[in-house]
Amino acid sequence: MSERLKPEPLPRRDFLGLAGLWSAAVAIGGSLIGMSRLPKPSVLPEAGRRFRIGRPEDFPDGTEEILTAEKVLVRSGPQGIAAISLVCTHLGCIVSRESAGFGCPCHGSAFGQNGEVGGGPAPRGLRWLEVSRGVDGRLVVDADREVAPGTWCQV
Ligand code: FES
Repeated sequence: MSERLKPEPLPRRDFLGLAGLWSAAVAIGGSLIGMSRLPKPSVLPEAGRRFRIGRPEDFPDGTEEILTAEKVLVRSGPQGIAAISLVCTHLGCIVSRESAGFGCPCHGSAFGQNGEVGGGPAPRGLRWLEVSRGVDGRLVVDADREVAPGTWCQV
């Protein structure tokens, strides 16, 4: 092989420059992918969750009851019965009931009395879930079916 066809060795300074450029490109690319996911809720509702919560008379007018296992707040009023999910729409922590509404202990999202976002990283308000009456007259919450905030089940 002639001397002209042999590749010249890459000078060390050029090699370090290229390695730095590639590292910066990978870091910027990873950051952009991560940032593009921020506006979307990171937690999707669990699949196939329908559960009975009791009879309408178990929820007197003007009361609220937190069903811890189901992660739902059941609210009763003159309009009927409503269920609000207690799963934070940011990363899925369980919010707690506070005098001003709901608060998330994980990253500080705040929600109003009806679950609307009041501050923090949560991208949207708490989910209102469909409430219906089963054939046996008991109330059924379907955690897969979100309804518009302010939707009540007439009882
Ligand atoms: S999980 Fe609720 S604010 Fe992050």
